[in-house]
Amino acid sequence: MTKNNPTPTLNPSSFSANENGERSIKHDENNSNQGTERGKKLLLQSVRELGGGRSVLLDKNGKLIAGNKTFDAAQEAGLKVRVIQAERNELVAVQRTDLDLDDSTGEARRLAYMDNRVAELDLAWDVEQIAQDASAGIDFDSVGFLEGELRQLLDQIEAGNEAGNDPGDQSEQVEELVKKWNVVAGQAWQLGEHRIICADAIDLYAINQLMESEKASLCFTSPPYWVGKDYETQTSEAEIDAFIEAIATTIHAVTKRDESRIVINTGTGFTTAFDKKSKRHVLLLVDKWTNTLRKMGWNLRHVRHWLKEGQLMSTSPKTDVIDQHNEFLATFEHADGDPKRFDDSFDDQDISLLMTFYHSQGKQRGQEWTGAAWALRSYWDDVRGTARANGHVAAFPVELPLRHLMLYTKRGEIVFEPFCGSGTTIIACEVMKRKCRAVEVEPKYVAATLERWSLLTGKTPLPSASPQMRPSTTSGGTPLSAHDQFGGNGESNG
Ligand SMILES: C[S@@+](CC[C@H](N)C(=O)[O-])C[C@H]1O[C@@H](n2cnc3c(N)ncnc32)[C@H](O)[C@@H]1O
Repeated sequence: MTKNNPTPTLNPSSFSANENGERSIKHDENNSNQGTERGKKLLLQSVRELGGGRSVLLDKNGKLIAGNKTFDAAQEAGLKVRVIQAERNELVAVQRTDLDLDDSTGEARRLAYMDNRVAELDLAWDVEQIAQDASAGIDFDSVGFLEGELRQLLDQIEAGNEAGNDPGDQSEQVEELVKKWNVVAGQAWQLGEHRIICADAIDLYAINQLMESEKASLCFTSPPYWVGKDYETQTSEAEIDAFIEAIATTIHAVTKRDESRIVINTGTGFTTAFDKKSKRHVLLLVDKWTNTLRKMGWNLRHVRHWLKEGQLMSTSPKTDVIDQHNEFLATFEHADGDPKRFDDSFDDQDISLLMTFYHSQGKQRGQEWTGAAWALRSYWDDVRGTARANGHVAAFPVELPLRHLMLYTKRGEIVFEPFCGSGTTIIACEVMKRKCRAVEVEPKYVAATLERWSLLTGKTPLPSASPQMRPSTTSGGTPLSAHDQFGGNGESNG
C-alpha cells in the first residue's frame, strides 16, 4: 500500500494463488512462540466479541512473521483478510471506524485491554526452536534476550525433555503394583540416586533409616490438608495440631540450617472433613505450619499462590463455600541461615541451575538476576499440568517441584519429601539430577512411585535387604525423639 492508495493491492508475484485464484497466507512452521491455551481462548473471545484489532505481519511470500495465532483466531471467527503492502519505512495503522475510545460503550477500551492481555498471556517459548535458531546463528542479544535469559531457556531443554517422558501417576493400577513390587510397611527402596521408605513420616526411626545421617538442602512437600481424603486419619483439630507438630519435628531434624528451605504446599482444610456434625470452619493450615515451624526457628520468607486448574468446587449462597483452586506454597528459612549467596567457587553448571538468582557470565557474573518471570511472581497461574482427578487423589504437577528445585538447590543436593504420594517430587529430582529422600505411608502409593520411576528411567528399584521395623523397646512406648535419632536435637547441618 502507498499513502495515496488506501485500496489494498496485491503484488501478484508476491503470493502464490490456489486453484481458486485466492492468495494464501501461510504459517511460520518455525515460530518460536507456541502460545498458551488461555491466551488463545482470550484472543478468540476478543475477535468474536470485538472484531479485528491489531494487524498481523507477513513476509513477501505471505508467510506470517508475527500474528500466527491472531490469524488463526480471525479465520475461526470468519473475518475477511485484507492485505496491505508496505515498505520498511512505513507503519500500517489499522483504523477501526466503528470504535471510539471516548464513547460510553467501553468497547474500544475493552479491546485495548484484551490486546495487551493476549500479548501477556499468549507467550510460551518453544525452547527447542530457540536452540535451533541459536545454533543457526541468530543473535539473540540483538533481539532483546540477555545472555542469562537465553541460557536459562536452553537449560530447560534437558529437564523438559526428561520430564516430558514422565509416564505420569501410576495410581490407577495400584492393586497389581503392590503385588508386583511386594510393598510392605518398613521396606525401603533405592531408585538410582533416590530412596523411598514405606513408613509414617512421624516415625523418626524409619526416617533415620532413610536419611542415613545425610541432611536435605530442601524439603518440598504437600502434606494432607483435611478435605476428606482417606489418608487423613486425624479426627479433631487438636490431633491435626499434634500431627503438624510431629511432622515439623521430622522435617526440622533432617533439613540443613544453612540457606536450605522448607516449602510446604497446602490448601485450606475444613472441620467437616473429620467432624460431619460440626459447623463448617475453614482451617488456614499455612498459619498452623508457620506457627509450628517458627517455634523450631524456621521463619516464613514468603508465600506464593498456585492457581490449580480444574479444581473448582461448586458454590452456593447457602453453603458459603468458595472454590478451592488456589493453594499456598509457603517457604521457610531457618533463623540461623542466610539467603543463597553467590560463591565464586560455583562452576557454570551450579550457576546455570541457580539462574533465577545470578548472572552466570561476563561483567555481571555473580550479580543478582531473577531472570525467570515466574520466580519473581507470587501468583502462579502458569504451572503446566494439572493435579489429577483420577489416579492419585491429590497429586501436584511435576513443574511445581521442578521450579523449587531450580530456585533452591544445586545438582546433586538432597531433597526431602515426607508425603511422596505418586512420586512427583522423585520424578522432578530425577530430571533435575537431585537426590530425593521420600516417605509414603500407603503401600499402594509407594508401588505407584516405583512403577512410575521405573517406566521413566528403564531401571529397576532395588529393595533394601529387609523391612526395617522399629526396635521393640520403642514400639509400645514413647516415640523416638529427634534428639535420640539425630543427635543434638537435629541441630547439626550434617
Ligand atoms: C497431598 S498427598 C501428596 C501427593 C504428592 N504430592 C503427589 O504428587 O502425588 C499426601 C500424601 O501423604 C501420604 N501420607 C499421609 N499421611 C502420611 C504420613 N503420616 N506419613 C507419610 N505419608 C503420609 C498420603 O498417603 C498421600 O499420598
